[in-house]
Amino acid sequence: MIKDYLKKTISEKWALGHFNFSEDDALRAIIEAAAEFKTPVFVGTSEGERKHIGLKQAVNLIKAFREEFGIPIFLNADHTKSFEGVVAAVDAGYDAILADFSALPFEENIKLTKQSVEYAKSKNPEIIVEGELGYVRGESKVQKEIIEIKTEDLTKPEEAGQFIKETGVDMLAPAVGNIHGIAANAPKLYFARIAEIKKAVGDNIYLVLHGGSGMSEADFKNSIDSGISVVHINTEIRVAFTEALKETIKEKPEETTPYKILTPSIEAMKKVIEEKLKIFESINKI
Ligand code: G3H
Ligand code: ZN
Repeated sequence: MIKDYLKKTISEKWALGHFNFSEDDALRAIIEAAAEFKTPVFVGTSEGERKHIGLKQAVNLIKAFREEFGIPIFLNADHTKSFEGVVAAVDAGYDAILADFSALPFEENIKLTKQSVEYAKSKNPEIIVEGELGYVRGESKVQKEIIEIKTEDLTKPEEAGQFIKETGVDMLAPAVGNIHGIAANAPKLYFARIAEIKKAVGDNIYLVLHGGSGMSEADFKNSIDSGISVVHINTEIRVAFTEALKETIKEKPEETTPYKILTPSIEAMKKVIEEKLKIFESINKI
């Protein structure tokens, strides 16, 4: 099912959106936007986000949202940095896992990613496993400092080819000039490198662009043209939530009803998500 959509991203040149959440309101914003646009969507929880909402809670909330909205929603265990974390997410019923051992040396990364793929597929042959190769800097917040990427930090196409063969991953997150979070400087993406990596991994392995916040429309379009199938967005959703919340509390300091305080935040997050879905051209794909 996920693979059917991933295949189409390549033949039809569009991308699936992957949006992070840590609580029910962000999830509702993502799913309402996706349902309005009739788009399949990835929703993801990082290790911190899933600790906050709970793994079983995330899995069961997704089930409820699928029943209510009738659209394909894929739950991803984003940036899972230990084998124990992979096991916990697979066992809880996640649809996809990012086994992220990119901070380790190449051979160690291959070893732990392969071990993760084997465990995940033995428990759920349909599960999608993503590996990460190269150093994607930053974190999902607004950063004050300038982050410069050196070309030696970019993923090497020949290593990407070896990595996917030896690990058996379905998707790969490369470092191609992308930065997590909103940095003080605009990211400079290396589109030719994306195309070279795509050529090295082939049509059946799908590339994921992390660090989508702060990228321009042209960045997304050129990345998709170069072979990206999935784009991750987190910080811009966090900022939309928080800014709207601050504004609401300032405007209505007497208000104490949580759902009334949070409604403008849901709308603000939805707006961000809708803008991205239009750029990714994933509308009317169900
Ligand atoms: O895995 C999460 C994403 O890569 C989010 O990146 O915070 O820059 O949107 P972002
Ligand atoms: Zn990421």
